[in-house]
Parts: sequence; structure tokens; C-alpha cells
Amino acid sequence: MRIFVDSADVEEIKRLHKLGFISGATTNPSLVAKSGLEPEKIYTELAGLLEHVSAEVVAEDSEGMYEEGKRLASLHPNVVVKIPFTPEGLKAVKALKSEGVRVNVTLIFSSAQALIAARVGADFVSPFIGRIDDIGYSGVEVISQTAKIFTLHDIPTRIIAASIRHPAHFIDAALSGAHIATVPPTVLWKLMKHPLTDIGLERFLADWRKVQENEK
Ligand code: E4P
Repeated sequence: MRIFVDSADVEEIKRLHKLGFISGATTNPSLVAKSGLEPEKIYTELAGLLEHVSAEVVAEDSEGMYEEGKRLASLHPNVVVKIPFTPEGLKAVKALKSEGVRVNVTLIFSSAQALIAARVGADFVSPFIGRIDDIGYSGVEVISQTAKIFTLHDIPTRIIAASIRHPAHFIDAALSGAHIATVPPTVLWKLMKHPLTDIGLERFLADWRKVQENEK
């Protein structure tokens, strides 16, 4: 499973990227609005660093989504256009695919939606596991079903586990067959932290320093 960061905070993404395990970023209109930065500047800057930057359209009709998607895709070859799963969105996906634009279909809440999105040509689908859990269903189950369906029917669309809220979601996404997990920075930092690593290092260094002191 590849690891993306779910954020539009360019400085934080740069900090994480330096660690070497992040290969993409996903943004959405809420995250971009929160950053206070100019959307196209965010996408262009991130696309220079990462092989995948999902940039979401805000138009609601298929023609508008298509036009906006074409403009976003022209910013950089690493920009992937994010289209919401609506009937208008599906039409836009088909039109963008006919122009060779890479598309991530977002706001997926069931394996049926994922299969339909794949059939109109989505390169990526993003089931929102945290938001599915919020309404009393299992987000991870939607990932497992989607992965099974895609494998059974030889569908090349990649599954991005999105709306990841805590470290257990990340592991569950990997075990249930997500190809990619897009993870908020706060959860990524938690994933890297383990108290035994800190205690272990503290002890190693204390032992090391003791020997150095004795040799003086
Ligand atoms: C996915 O691409 C979305 O940006 C994101 O994962 C939504 O997560 P949320 O439910 O925590 O807002």
C-alpha cells in the first residue's frame, strides 16, 4: 500500500516528504480553503515534489467539471483531477478520460459506487472510511468488498482509502486491500511514534554515554 498525505498544508507536506515515504497528496475544497493559499499554487508546488496530487473541481455540472478538470490537469502532469461521485460527475469523468486526463472519483461510500466509477474509467476511487464509520457502517468493509470486486473482475482502478481518522484505520486499510491510503499529517505523526522506540533509544544512548564517560 502506498502512502499519500491528505492535506493542503504545503509546508507540512514538505516536512513529511523529506522523510521519504510519501508519494502523493490529496486535497479537497475544505482543506484548500483552510490553508488560505491560492489553490493552483498549492497544486503546482506539490506536483513538483510528488508523483500524484489530487486537485478537486468545485463546479457542479458536467461541462463545468470538465473545463475545470482540463485546466487543473494542464498545471502539471502529476495533477490528478478529483471528481465527486454524482451523475454529473460521472459524465465529466468519461469526458476527461477521453482526453487522457487522470481522474480520482471522490466521495465514495459503497462498493457499488466504486464499481460504477471504475466502469466510467476512473483511475482511482476514494472510499471515505471514517465518514462511513460515522453513520454506523464499516468503512473498512467497503474497502474489502471493493478490492475483492476489482480483483474478481480484473479492474485496474486503484483504491485510495480516504477519511482515515486514526492509526488503526491505516492498518485496516492495508489489510483489506487498499492500494493507497491518504492520511492526515496528525495521523502520520502518530503512526511513526512508538513509546518503546523512544525508551529503547534513550537506553542505548545512556549506555553509550556511560562508556564514553568511563574512558575519559
Ligand atoms: C479524501 O481525499 C478526502 O480529502 C479526505 O480523506 C476526507 O476526510 P475527512 O472525512 O476526514 O474530511
